[in-house]
Amino acid sequence: MRTTEEITAVARAAVQAAVWAPSVHNTQPWSFVVEGEEIALRADSDRKLRIGDPSGREMLVSCGAALMNVRLASRTLGREARVRVLPDPDRPALLATVRLGEPVEADEHTRLLYDQIERRRTHRAGFTDVPVPEPLVEELVHQAKAENARLTPIRSEPAVLVLAALTEAAQEVQSQDRVFTLEVVRWAQPPGSTRAEGVPAGGYPREPRRTRPHFPQRDYAHGHQWGGDADQFAAASTGLVAVLTTPGDSREDWIAAGQALQRLLLHACAHGVRAAFHTQALEASHLREFLRQELLSGEYPQMIMRLGFTLDEGESVRRPVADVLEERRTT
Ligand SMILES: Cc1cc2nc3c(=O)[nH]c(=O)nc-3n(C[C@H](O)[C@H](O)[C@H](O)COP(=O)(O)O)c2cc1C
Repeated sequence: MRTTEEITAVARAAVQAAVWAPSVHNTQPWSFVVEGEEIALRADSDRKLRIGDPSGREMLVSCGAALMNVRLASRTLGREARVRVLPDPDRPALLATVRLGEPVEADEHTRLLYDQIERRRTHRAGFTDVPVPEPLVEELVHQAKAENARLTPIRSEPAVLVLAALTEAAQEVQSQDRVFTLEVVRWAQPPGSTRAEGVPAGGYPREPRRTRPHFPQRDYAHGHQWGGDADQFAAASTGLVAVLTTPGDSREDWIAAGQALQRLLLHACAHGVRAAFHTQALEASHLREFLRQELLSGEYPQMIMRLGFTLDEGESVRRPVADVLEERRTT
């Protein structure tokens, strides 16, 4: 028996899960409307990075990750999720609708991924020396493929060096650009801040240890002595470098990349593996194009990441669901 209350409870829980998706600088660039059995996911372009992400690619990758959480939550809570991506060309901010359908019993893997949603955290330092087990790497590749994206583990050392060098170059160029820097700083939280968005000071080390090869982090502290204890982030291995790509570069591809990203991150988290992201080079169109042509067989890079085991649990925050959810009565 389907009651209105039951559907409303599932929809609310799905939005509660959605907000725990990763998003660029923790901008949380989304909003949701629940009306009857339908959850609408919209991009909140007031939260788009106008300098770092003018096309909105990273915003849509972030929203795609939130969409994956909605799908996992509705199935785990007993309802089929019928998804339409970009259902209305006249409403470009409407990224997807999810209709809560027939009752279903979620399989074990769906439940496992759902259970990781609030546990998963971005890492911003080195990893331990323990390698990511090969069967797990293969499984992560499979998780991305199931969402129409490709995760390519970068095995060749020269290719890893190229990626590290491009990240370093992009980070250096961005840090010398005042307007770019101001935008990053806007999304960095000073210690003790109660803001429920942006990157908290405890989410990265005060004095980062270099990994070899080194993938620089974003400069969220910007000259301040912010950041968690160095001991807490003491591991110094680069980990496994991997790139998530899509065959095209349309808005659909970006949303697909976000769903693939979240699916593989949750699977990794269930096996104790975390991810660090380095998307600086993808924000410079010529560097992104270079990577596409020289390293990625013509596929479009959507995320650059390192994967590995950590000693610490990172810190993060989210806005309350009430700030992002509008519930409409059906007439
Ligand atoms: C499209 C995208 C790009 C990102 N780029 C970076 C990055 O370059 N550096 C970084 O440290 N984190 C990056 N992140 C991670 C976000 O900062 C992180 O998801 C956000 O702060 C929320 O924290 P959480 O993932 O721990 O919940 C990115 C996330 C997304 C979805």
